[in-house]
Amino acid sequence: MASFDLDARFDLGTRLVSEAGELAMSYFQRLGSLTIKSKGPQDMASEADLNTEILIRDRLAAAFPEDAFLGEETGRTDAVAGARGIWVVDPIDGTQPFVSNMHNWCVSIAFVLDGRTELGFVAAPARRELFIARRGHGATLNGAPIAVRPAARMTDGLVGLGYSSRTPPGEFLPLLATLLDQGGMFVRSGSGALMLCDVACGRLIGYIEQYINSWDCLAALAMIEAAGGVVSDFLANDGMWRGHALAAGAPEVFPGLASLVGVAPLKV
Ligand code: IPD
Ligand code: CA
Repeated sequence: MASFDLDARFDLGTRLVSEAGELAMSYFQRLGSLTIKSKGPQDMASEADLNTEILIRDRLAAAFPEDAFLGEETGRTDAVAGARGIWVVDPIDGTQPFVSNMHNWCVSIAFVLDGRTELGFVAAPARRELFIARRGHGATLNGAPIAVRPAARMTDGLVGLGYSSRTPPGEFLPLLATLLDQGGMFVRSGSGALMLCDVACGRLIGYIEQYINSWDCLAALAMIEAAGGVVSDFLANDGMWRGHALAAGAPEVFPGLASLVGVAPLKV
């Protein structure tokens, strides 16, 4: 197969996620003047989401017109014939914390090549954190290498538990009960991408969600893989376009997490 310039994409992604983070932060600092619209129950967006995505989309299109694009706010670009690569972007993951003046939100950019997530970039400017990952090259937080936490059992730490109203409460509550029955404990910060990054850097032992979209999680899943963790095969069954259940975590606890949401590990 012809060679592909991942180095150039890694370099641009690294610069772009910080630039987009600064733009989103400038909106966060004048939250009171934003127009916040509801897209559904507990699902908000403001001009910060749209304009941050447009900045990212335009920069990527200028540098790599041959790549495809999928973003939470503007959707997918017209298919680029024969595109091997696709950028998957959430301009602000954790919109509810963002509009509530809380710090758990981030800009998330993933690059998928030939169906495999190769690069992940997550900037959380309100937390002063920048996560970057490249398959085979490790993952960093603010430039320092990170690794998942060795955890043997569900009782060894906290599990990030994602929930949105896309899942009926009657399907979610049995999952929560099973986790608690096993001696596990959960956190939900409002940003799936950041909780997954917290798995990558060893703060959480794992993450589960019954339904999540690709733009919420792909960049951070690259982080977990590069940091030595195990992730489920999110892109199976058209997960890129349709979303999927998700489990990710330290290798020893992954099988237990995966069985809670009925997913299989990604084979690498
Ligand atoms: C949501 C958050 C949340 C997750 C949801 C996402 P948004 O994204 O990541 O933690 O549980 O599945 O939709 O609405 O903040 O961009
Ligand atoms: Ca999101």
